[in-house]
Amino acid sequence: MAVTSSSERGSWNSKLGFILAAAGSAVGLGNIWGFPTKVATEGGGAYLVIYLLCTFLIGFPVMVAELSIGRKSGKNPVGAFKALSSNKFFPLVGLWGVICGVMILSFYTVIAGWAFGYAFEEIFYYLGWDAAAAWLTDTGNGPKNALIASVFMLGTIKIITGGVSNGIEKATKTMMPMLIGIIVIMIGYVLTQPGASEGVKEYLLPDFSRINAGLIFSAMGQAFFSLSLGMGALITYGSYLSKKENIPQAAAFVTLADVGIAFLAGLMIIPAMYVAQAAGIEIFVGDQLASSTDLVFQILPALFHTIGGAVGLILGVVFFLLLSIAALTSTISLLEVPVAFVIDEYSVPRKKAAYGVGLGILVISIIISFNPALIGTFDSIFNNLGLPIGGLLMCIFVGFVWKTDSALSEMEHGFEGIKQTLFAKVWPVFIWIICPAAIAYNIISNFL
Ligand code: PHE
Repeated sequence: MAVTSSSERGSWNSKLGFILAAAGSAVGLGNIWGFPTKVATEGGGAYLVIYLLCTFLIGFPVMVAELSIGRKSGKNPVGAFKALSSNKFFPLVGLWGVICGVMILSFYTVIAGWAFGYAFEEIFYYLGWDAAAAWLTDTGNGPKNALIASVFMLGTIKIITGGVSNGIEKATKTMMPMLIGIIVIMIGYVLTQPGASEGVKEYLLPDFSRINAGLIFSAMGQAFFSLSLGMGALITYGSYLSKKENIPQAAAFVTLADVGIAFLAGLMIIPAMYVAQAAGIEIFVGDQLASSTDLVFQILPALFHTIGGAVGLILGVVFFLLLSIAALTSTISLLEVPVAFVIDEYSVPRKKAAYGVGLGILVISIIISFNPALIGTFDSIFNNLGLPIGGLLMCIFVGFVWKTDSALSEMEHGFEGIKQTLFAKVWPVFIWIICPAAIAYNIISNFL
């Protein structure tokens, strides 16, 4: 079946374009907000180790599966399952993915709004406009949250109406190296400050006695979230992918870029927590963290403020702007899933679909803006639980309904001779048994 690339659906401009867009989807708040927060709250170095295992052993094989489904079918997650088998159940898996995408996007824009607001907070702080700065740092301020989340959502909708390739490819190409650069500079700074070594130990010396079912479950959810897996974002992006692309290689690149940035973000933030503590900022109450969802948004500005002066200002503003762009390339992929669904399945024009779906999700974002405590609840249901369940069902689909051999035939495009490689012997074993068993086991043991 040919990839449908009618003008409504679009396709990537270049080979690099797809990789950049998929990496842009993966790299976002999950790396810089989610991962360090979870390391800090759930197990330090032990969390890091389990997270890496989940990423490479579960996430990467599932990513290859999702991209193959997407490119073969050329469809959104619901249409893709319909196109590849006559089984009536699996389109519901696609629909579950669309729902998870909608719900994740609704809280994601609120957090992205915090990040965006902090770029201005740095300026106001520098100018000594304390009241304005304090207004932006109040993550519990409903009207402020709603205002910035709306700006963020409208920006996302605007880019989505332009089709898949233009803005995303360009934004990611410049943003990603700059983001890495600034994180590396910050790591260099943090590691020379008093207190940092305690943080480095916490991050890099795993205490394996902290591993339990809850930690593994959380790390697995985090791996799915950070790689944008389990909800069909990569089925959708794969549907715009040219037959010339080497799927396993593209997936490997995206996985490495994503893990690399998460690892660096942890190396910046975990030691920075201890540096902030040594400087007298209250990070822990007893041995509990003083904050969780907004932890990163307390640590980072404190860090930029202690650097101070024009250097602190520039680093702070640039960092939060880059983080906002990273979040934007993720919200684009989150919104693209339900939008592609509406375009494909109901023949709605792209612009109408983007505004209709985007503004609908914005209503939920506004509710969350006034009740930020909902973020934790939504995160648990649609991210921690929802994405691994989606991934599990996708493995079952590729393993036993569509069959791994059909997926490998699809991968022959762009990787001739793949069926004779070691990859073709090992990957199916992961899809048949290792990934589904690990996901199911983790979900069940977490609930027990
Ligand atoms: N991977 C993105 C991040 O880490 C979030 C995301 C999840 C995007 C699922 C698309 C789909 O921030």
